[in-house]
Amino acid sequence: MTALLDRPAPTAAGGLSLRRGAARVLLGNWTGAGTVPSRTLYPHQWSWDSAFIAIGLRHLSPRRAQRELESLFAAQWGDGRVPHIVFNPSVPDGAYFPSPDFWRTSTAGARAGAPRERETSGIVQPPVHALAAWLTHRADPRESRRRGFLPRLYPRLVAWHDYLLTSRDLGGGGLTAVVHPWEPGMDNSPCWDTALARVTPADPAGFRRADLDHGHPADRPTDLDYGRYVQLALDYRDAGYDDRAARHRFALEDPCVNALLIAGEHALAEIAAYLGEDAAPHRARADRTTEALVDRLWDAEAGLFLARDLADDTLVRERSVAGLVPLLTPGLPGPVVDRLVATLDGPGFHAGPTALVPSYDLTGRAFDRTRYWRGPAWFNTAWLIERGLRTHGRHRHADRVRTAILETAGATGFAEYVDPTTGEGRGARAFSWTAALTLDLLAAEEAPREAQR
Ligand code: SER
Repeated sequence: MTALLDRPAPTAAGGLSLRRGAARVLLGNWTGAGTVPSRTLYPHQWSWDSAFIAIGLRHLSPRRAQRELESLFAAQWGDGRVPHIVFNPSVPDGAYFPSPDFWRTSTAGARAGAPRERETSGIVQPPVHALAAWLTHRADPRESRRRGFLPRLYPRLVAWHDYLLTSRDLGGGGLTAVVHPWEPGMDNSPCWDTALARVTPADPAGFRRADLDHGHPADRPTDLDYGRYVQLALDYRDAGYDDRAARHRFALEDPCVNALLIAGEHALAEIAAYLGEDAAPHRARADRTTEALVDRLWDAEAGLFLARDLADDTLVRERSVAGLVPLLTPGLPGPVVDRLVATLDGPGFHAGPTALVPSYDLTGRAFDRTRYWRGPAWFNTAWLIERGLRTHGRHRHADRVRTAILETAGATGFAEYVDPTTGEGRGARAFSWTAALTLDLLAAEEAPREAQR
């Protein structure tokens, strides 16, 4: 590992010390088979975090990056779902809430095929995994082949996407739906406010938040929102996490989740072709899902994609970064790409030349520059937008986003998120995906573009 850390300085601001700092975060957060997002706030393995982490870890140790994904998928359920948390049995129950004794997946999830030997959560997170698997393979194809990485992971990735587009196509329109605000990964986004207001919160006396032991209350979701998260999770658990039996009181189609699913299908097509399998069904599914995304979630007036609330089949008129992430989608119509780029540069999402993209419209009614997903800028969404801009050949614009990510990550000690108006770090520090995606962008500066993508 030392030899890798000592490679020559990259050209970006921060250079070698930035690389060393990012590597130190990932080495420090490695637990032996996977990586915790944060030693304090999130002491287990999280699903989309692990995918982003693998994308960076591949530059330090392709083998560890493979293990990161393998350990997550070892806890995949029989119905294909990949749980949003895989619990580490050696971490005390009180270190994180909701803990295994809340989810009780090994018993309550039996009908849906939850593992008996591992405790997990019962909900999911965005499907970044096929993309992460393909990028991880490409970092060291020989090691990947030697370990049989893709042949083992490919059927699991296919089952995961099948779950999302069958059991979770709750609207019947060819998109996957989320059934809990933790699923799209943007917990307290204003996009969920109306849908959440229909949920009676769980009694606060019945649970204790562990996040406030580490995070500042002004940076975290409110108690009222937490009560609702808890109630929704309890309802799902009581239905045995069975999507046929559950009556979902919260069900929305999210543009970021669906764009990641499309990017994942394109990655599965690459993997299938590499393995000598039929890639055509993946390409066809990517095309169908892209059509459904534009048809069901594009809103020209808002200038970005919106979430669709399945309770009343309407678009949620809140502009969040989730609506810009579909830039990742290769088959988007040209006018849609142009409009997304204009929105990115407009007053709602452009706080300054070196600022990261905020999670919510800077001019929106609910904008809050410090509170979790109600305004702060996150590194994973900036990385996805950087990648999306390159997908559509907007390299100058992408370079600006990349510089902003690298400068802000280094200056904030790899913060979980930042105030988009000042660049000041918020939430946890030494945050794994911030470090991982920094490493990825540093590596992209050194290597020919095509070798990285
Ligand atoms: N993001 C949630 C938390 O803060 C759950 O994944 O714990």
